[in-house]
Amino acid sequence: MSHLFPTYSRWEVEPDIAEGCFIIGKDGKRYLDFTSGIGVCNLGHRPKAVQEAVNSQLNRFWHVSNLFVQGEQEAAAKRLADGANMDLVFFANSGAEANEAAIKLARKATGRKKIITFENSFHGRTFATMSATGQEKIKAGFGPMLETFTYLPLNDIEAVKQAIDSETAAVMLEVVQGEGGIHIGEQEFLNEVGQLCKKNGALYIIDEIQTGVGRTGKPFAFQHFQLTPDIVTTAKGLGSGLPIGAVIGRKEQAHFFGPGSHGSTFGGNPLAIAAANATMEIIFEKEFLKVVEKNSEYLYEQMSKKLGSLPAITEIRQLGMMIGLETSADVPLLVKELRMDGLLTLSAGHNVLRLLPPLTVKETEIDEAVEILQSVLISYSNAAV
Ligand SMILES: Cc1ncc(COP(=O)(O)O)c(C=O)c1O
Repeated sequence: MSHLFPTYSRWEVEPDIAEGCFIIGKDGKRYLDFTSGIGVCNLGHRPKAVQEAVNSQLNRFWHVSNLFVQGEQEAAAKRLADGANMDLVFFANSGAEANEAAIKLARKATGRKKIITFENSFHGRTFATMSATGQEKIKAGFGPMLETFTYLPLNDIEAVKQAIDSETAAVMLEVVQGEGGIHIGEQEFLNEVGQLCKKNGALYIIDEIQTGVGRTGKPFAFQHFQLTPDIVTTAKGLGSGLPIGAVIGRKEQAHFFGPGSHGSTFGGNPLAIAAANATMEIIFEKEFLKVVEKNSEYLYEQMSKKLGSLPAITEIRQLGMMIGLETSADVPLLVKELRMDGLLTLSAGHNVLRLLPPLTVKETEIDEAVEILQSVLISYSNAAV
């Protein structure tokens, strides 16, 4: 009997060791990992520079508390603030914690309660972030939720115009909905949301937990759309697998998060910070992101050519290394069959196969993945005829 609560439906694979884009199971089987630990291992598994940085910190100190000034925390905050072209950072331990802090900051900074979010969004599983999430299945059985959230259809600017008013603290969105099915915000919609926030004195919060730290080919996905958010949250890819989350805000918000207002025992832990600094040093380099962009284009070309016309595929959506293949196939079954053939993938929404390959994926690995996808999807397409 397992002594773990059965909160996760587990795969049959037990990893033995992982390196780069590959996981080797305890049964010796090799898997091409196009999940990156659900968008976390953006540099692949066990990137050397991150391993060295964490090893070096392990030999200095592991935890001292946030009573101490820590130069590395300052350096990580500066990297994040510079990467987002913003000012101030609060470190948390996860995506939900970062979003929770962002919601608190927005309420305190505006003195207002109402927050607008979107259908199919996912913001976390704490009470505030679960309440913010626009998916009923996430909340089932846990009610009542916080009452001050309104959920609107993504890309429907008229709905935002109707809902936003002088009591709105913030509009919070993912520019690419990850868990919800790789739905991409439209340029005009995203711009207009920013304008409406300004006009109504509300804050624009962008949840980059999944899209941040290079996942879409830029440091943050909002930079594809030239937006100027008031608050950005990020987590997954930031520590290459060590738990860390962050709220990035603006200097005008400093006094709302003064001493004693918010905090976390482990937030900004030295080991996670060492991993984050080493990760950002690589990913925020222009040259690195150029290669990501080039390989994303190659992946799109290959998918369009080899999968685009298969009857089982209804749409391919992509921003950088965040890909959704909308399909008529049974997604959980498809994920299983791909895994049996050595390719690890994810589901999203109810009919989307999600690919989150490491940003370091090579053309040969893309070829291998597309070949496996093609052979499995062809059998689905044949079965559908
Ligand atoms: C957009 C988004 N926000 C928040 C979260 C929650 O992050 P965590 O699981 O680290 O709490 C996730 C996790 O998938 C996410 O994709």
